[in-house]
Amino acid sequence: MIKLLFTGGTVVTAAGSYEADVLVEDGKVAAIGAGLAANGAEEVDAAGRLVMPGFIDAHTHMDMPFGGTVTADDWATGTEAAAAGGTTMIIDFALQEVGGTLAGAFDAWTEKAAGKTVIDYSFHVAITDLRDDIKAELPALAEKGVASVKIFMAYKGTPLYSEDEDLFETLQLSREAGVLVMVHAENGDAIAKLQQQALARGDTAPRFHALTRPEAVEAEATNRAIRLAEVAGAPILVVHVSCAGALEAIHLAHERGQTIYAETCPQYFAFEYEDLAKEGFEGAKYVCSPPLRDPSNRPALWNGLKFGDLQIFGSDHCSFNYEGQKELGKDDFTLIPNGLPGVEERAMALWTLGVREGKLNENQFVAVLSTNQARIYGCYPRKGALVPGADADVVLWDPELRTTATVENRHSNVDYTPYEGMEFHGGPAAVYVRGELVYKDGEVVGERGSGRFVERRFTAPALEVGV
Ligand code: URP
Ligand code: ZN
Ligand code: ZN
Repeated sequence: MIKLLFTGGTVVTAAGSYEADVLVEDGKVAAIGAGLAANGAEEVDAAGRLVMPGFIDAHTHMDMPFGGTVTADDWATGTEAAAAGGTTMIIDFALQEVGGTLAGAFDAWTEKAAGKTVIDYSFHVAITDLRDDIKAELPALAEKGVASVKIFMAYKGTPLYSEDEDLFETLQLSREAGVLVMVHAENGDAIAKLQQQALARGDTAPRFHALTRPEAVEAEATNRAIRLAEVAGAPILVVHVSCAGALEAIHLAHERGQTIYAETCPQYFAFEYEDLAKEGFEGAKYVCSPPLRDPSNRPALWNGLKFGDLQIFGSDHCSFNYEGQKELGKDDFTLIPNGLPGVEERAMALWTLGVREGKLNENQFVAVLSTNQARIYGCYPRKGALVPGADADVVLWDPELRTTATVENRHSNVDYTPYEGMEFHGGPAAVYVRGELVYKDGEVVGERGSGRFVERRFTAPALEVGV
């Protein structure tokens, strides 16, 4: 039985920070308090460290077919990269195949994860084919511990895309089944038309990815999804919010009293449209959807995180190699697979750009990376909290750690990093999953296959806005 005592650190939770020791027994937090007795526990010196609940990344795409290829990270390298960034649990998107079932998606992703993960995990299921049998299947999905489904309003012309009627009916049915609907909000019709027009003009370079997905197509779809949720009487979660216009729709819905959850991601703070416009085909490394924006959006996004319109910060880790994968779109930007790696950098980017710059405090940092994720996605307080009885998922955060990202020191299986040369100030010194050490001082030590599936139940928590 693992028995550990973290001594001399500062416990940082979403609610506050205080000096305390943390006792871990049998994979669970057993006690928190000043001057706890070791009683045979192995002592871990946490002096100078911030002791935080393990981070949860509820937006990853490991081993996922997309854009005519498959994401570069599988469940081994993807979860190792996550652990190296302080993440102790991911929630990944299992894709329903056209003609397939939701249970089929669950089983396929269970197979992909088997024997590979070094951290705990769970699944959302992306509904791509809402047939009558699928509608009837939703309650059974909830029974399996899948508390969330995703609908894509974008990617018209691919199997992922859904019409409004399917989004609306999914909202109605999910409300009954006790499942949260997540939405990728961009107007797929307008984008498809703008893309056709751009290609007809001969505009094929990566920057046209952003120019054919202007902010207004995200703002419009965000507002439409929120209003459909209002009609259905259902909560909704908007993923990867990238711009002030989309955030405004969320803020107005909060003012009306709607239960709307929303996520933003590190790439919208670390990078910008100009990265897509880099010399030659280099911009392909920055193609993701929604696209990178003008930095003038950032003050609004920071305020969204600070005041609670945006409650969570996910990576949207969707890694493709430059060679052979991003290159598929060399002559046509619409063929560049969409997505960036970021599961390793998520917390370090937020600390460096957010906490060190005074945009967020350390408690808000823990809220958006861990506690709010657990509450919204239905695994709190087992995850996302340092309280007696919770899983002992612990990050010893070194606020002074300095690392420079380069492809050689990344743990992902990708041939580039968009963060190349970026200096992070603050990072994880050690990471524990259920009391087991999985990462220490730059090295992943967790055993592949040790991660466990986490069942979730959606409870529609009310999260404070404007505090
Ligand atoms: O470009 C992105 N975001 N790729 C991942 C798939 C998605 O839309 O989340
Ligand atoms: Zn998406
Ligand atoms: Zn995504």
